[in-house]
Amino acid sequence: MNTIRINASKSYDVLVQNGCFKDAGRFIKNIFPEGKIAIVTDDTVQSLYADELVENLKSCGFDDVFVFSFPHGEKSKNYQTLIDITEFLAEKNLTRTDLLIALGGGVVGDITGFAAAIYLRGIKFVQIPTTFLAAIDSSVGGKTAVNLNAGKNLIGSFYQPELVICDPKMIDTLDDVYFDDGVAEAIKYGAIMDSKLFELFEKSDMRQNLEKIIVRCIELKNIVVTEDEFDVGLRQLLNFGHTIGHSIEKCSNFKITHGHAVAIGMAIIARGCVKLGITPENDAKRLISLIEKYNLPTKCEFDTESLYAPAVSDKKRTGGDITVIVMEKVGGCVLHKIPVEGLKELIENGR
Ligand SMILES: NC(=O)c1ccc[n+]([C@@H]2O[C@H](COP(=O)([O-])OP(=O)(O)OC[C@H]3O[C@@H](n4cnc5c(N)ncnc54)[C@H](O)[C@@H]3O)[C@@H](O)[C@H]2O)c1
Ligand SMILES: [Zn+2]
Repeated sequence: MNTIRINASKSYDVLVQNGCFKDAGRFIKNIFPEGKIAIVTDDTVQSLYADELVENLKSCGFDDVFVFSFPHGEKSKNYQTLIDITEFLAEKNLTRTDLLIALGGGVVGDITGFAAAIYLRGIKFVQIPTTFLAAIDSSVGGKTAVNLNAGKNLIGSFYQPELVICDPKMIDTLDDVYFDDGVAEAIKYGAIMDSKLFELFEKSDMRQNLEKIIVRCIELKNIVVTEDEFDVGLRQLLNFGHTIGHSIEKCSNFKITHGHAVAIGMAIIARGCVKLGITPENDAKRLISLIEKYNLPTKCEFDTESLYAPAVSDKKRTGGDITVIVMEKVGGCVLHKIPVEGLKELIENGR
């Protein structure tokens, strides 16, 4: 078993191994010997994996296991679903000593984590990520949130899980478009802090090395989260491509999914930064070629103004400045503070 110990304000293990979902009940028993369990999931994941998890938990002696599911997709990541989850928990009389399980992708993980943070002022939760993106990124590190009409992830909290159980085999059932969302985040890790990983993506096919890649990405996330759990410094590197990516998601009314939008965001920043002399042309080319190798987009139809407006309302803004993550070389990104108007120029140059 690959075990990565996350050292945030709370320490917890991330378990990664092909086929380990069948042992989820046993792993949960180790950290949560008894009590009620509510599994939160979406309709797609429910039909694939919820019954197996319920059976498994029951066989480990958990008698009260409930399932709450909501329609899949980013559109469900809102406060109405959040309230529905917490009403469900109250209806089932879950107390502070009971447990939530997030079974699903990043949408399920983010909203369940937030529900866990606020229900009775905090109840324990476990993440079982089922998408590539959730495995390498959203299930680890404790960022939880839902979207507001004004933008993505605008309400939320930092709230760490008790345990993360990741079975890369579960990703086999994922549609390609969502798999590719994870690919974009994996490329991001390589681009910001691991040139060897970036080279591995260039030389081989990600699907062939999934378990190894997931472990490495989580190790990288651990470095960042250990140093800066609350996102005031180093952790912001993980937002490479995200400020513009979030604008793209919003402009497309969420038809362009998160990773695809981030891929375009990384490409726009890289091209824009070549013009500013920050990113060497060859490094930007490598990044764009790698994005294209995995059939992800590097451009979108939205104009500079449409991309700029939501970006400046992004929560990464501080006063008249905004922090942009720029790539000085493959495997080396830095935080770069610019006046908000500078971002408009960067988008214009990069799109
Ligand atoms: N908290 C963080 O640190 C963090 C980091 C990155 C992204 N995010 C958030 O994550 C979300 C995106 O997550 P996502 O890409 O996992 O999307 P998602 O949760 O919407 O899942 C994508 C789709 O795949 C389906 N699905 C999930 N697992 C499946 C499986 N094993 N087999 C078949 N279908 C499956 C889902 O039902 C859904 O339709 C965004 O809301 C983003 O903001 C959060
Ligand atoms: Zn992301």
